[in-house]
Amino acid sequence: MASLRIFGVLLLLRQTSASAIDVSSRPYGTCKSLDIPVFATAPSAIYDIPRVDNDLQATAWAIFDATRSTPHNVKSIIKNTTTSATFNIHAQLCIPRDSKKSDILHIATHGVHYDSRYWDSKYQPESHSYVNAALKAGYSILTYDRLGVGQSDIPDAYTVVQAPLEQEILRQLTLMARNGTLYNFAEKAKPASAAFKALPKPRKIVHVGHSFGSFLTSAFIANYGALSDGALITGYLLTQFLASSGSTTFNVEYAATSNPPYKRPSGYVVAQKSGIQNVFFAGDLKTAYTPALLDYGNEIKQPVPIAEFASAFWLIGRKGLDFKAPIQYLLPEFDFYVCRGDCNNLANITALYESYPNATDIEVAIQPNTGHALPLHNNATAGFQVSFDFLTRHGL
Ligand SMILES: *[C@@H]1O[C@H](CO)[C@@H](O)[C@H](O)[C@H]1NC(C)=O
Ligand SMILES: *[C@@H]1O[C@H](CO)[C@@H](O)[C@H](O)[C@H]1NC(C)=O
Ligand SMILES: *[C@@H]1O[C@H](CO)[C@@H](O)[C@H](O)[C@H]1NC(C)=O
Ligand SMILES: *[C@@H]1O[C@H](CO)[C@@H](O)[C@H](O)[C@H]1NC(C)=O
Ligand SMILES: *[C@@H]1O[C@H](CO)[C@@H](O)[C@H](O)[C@H]1NC(C)=O
Repeated sequence: MASLRIFGVLLLLRQTSASAIDVSSRPYGTCKSLDIPVFATAPSAIYDIPRVDNDLQATAWAIFDATRSTPHNVKSIIKNTTTSATFNIHAQLCIPRDSKKSDILHIATHGVHYDSRYWDSKYQPESHSYVNAALKAGYSILTYDRLGVGQSDIPDAYTVVQAPLEQEILRQLTLMARNGTLYNFAEKAKPASAAFKALPKPRKIVHVGHSFGSFLTSAFIANYGALSDGALITGYLLTQFLASSGSTTFNVEYAATSNPPYKRPSGYVVAQKSGIQNVFFAGDLKTAYTPALLDYGNEIKQPVPIAEFASAFWLIGRKGLDFKAPIQYLLPEFDFYVCRGDCNNLANITALYESYPNATDIEVAIQPNTGHALPLHNNATAGFQVSFDFLTRHGL
């Protein structure tokens, strides 16, 4: 596989143009919304993929993508390009009240079909918000809407929102966190809040991913291992079954005309509720999740720009010698999209160490009776604790 090349990079922090939306007090900490201008430069490409401007073309794209003889990966590139721009990235920084572990910052990257609300359920947050659980465990946490999602910028779905650029945005956010600019920015962003005053920069950073956010996180720790002190890879394992159910599983519609419609241009597709269930919900219908959780999972879904799928291959199977920290893979037992419905006995620890030979520990844990959207199942809180216990065992 061709190596991922990330070109020179700049980052501009325009403090004056920053707008914070709110400060919210939580049971175990305080959160502040941020709009962070991030300048990033990364390789991009024009891919051989169809245009999507209506529902018929949305399903036709899914069939095209799932067809066995469709050119994929590097073979689908028509022309290599470079993308450089300043993007608005909407984020939320939360600081715990308890200071024991507040110098450890989680940077959490959500997957496709969702935005950062994936980590911070407003439905029964005490049982389903990873953000609240992290604050309760004493961690600081940054969540953000990936490019093309939620309240971040929504650029062209074909030529701009692509995997290498998204990895570069994660790198920029990490660099900002490490050198103190992120906390400085959060302090200055309005409205003022005592919780964000003169925060010392984080001592350790744990990268957390879900699904496509785990593709990004695992490539990031392979390519830039020295920038991470630990990784939680949830809802992702590279095996022959990954994505083998195909993009038709999403049951997509054209986002601009779906019900409700999303303010999205050409090339953005959104899963119907049945697609959300196919991909994200699984387990015993009596015990794994409730209809209300599925409704909430459907309510907070987000459209996806189709070149994100075409470019995802850049992130897969990266190997990195510089990552010298612990990794936990947390797999939902019945993950349909990642494990074709059964993650038991799929992980090969030897193969995982081939990707990260200098990792201090690699653990694979199975979260029982759960589908792909880990936080939106009944037993979510116990699953969060499995990750926090792992980190604690490794001094994080
Ligand atoms: C911190 O890192 C960011 C992102 O790379 C960079 O733009 C900024 O200049 C750095 N700031 C300091 C004070 O080193
Ligand atoms: C695009 O770049 C990749 C990686 O460098 C290369 O393998 C591929 O052949 C290039 N494709 C085109 C059409 O130039
Ligand atoms: C696990 O991965 C190693 C290294 O790639 C390989 O040699 C071994 O055959 C694999 N084991 C199984 C059971 O597939
Ligand atoms: C990292 O792992 C590689 C391959 O196992 C090894 O050759 C190298 O010495 C290690 N580097 C460090 C700094 O530990
Ligand atoms: C809930 O999750 C925890 C942590 O993985 C597990 O030990 C426990 O058995 C699960 N409970 C049920 C009822 O599945």
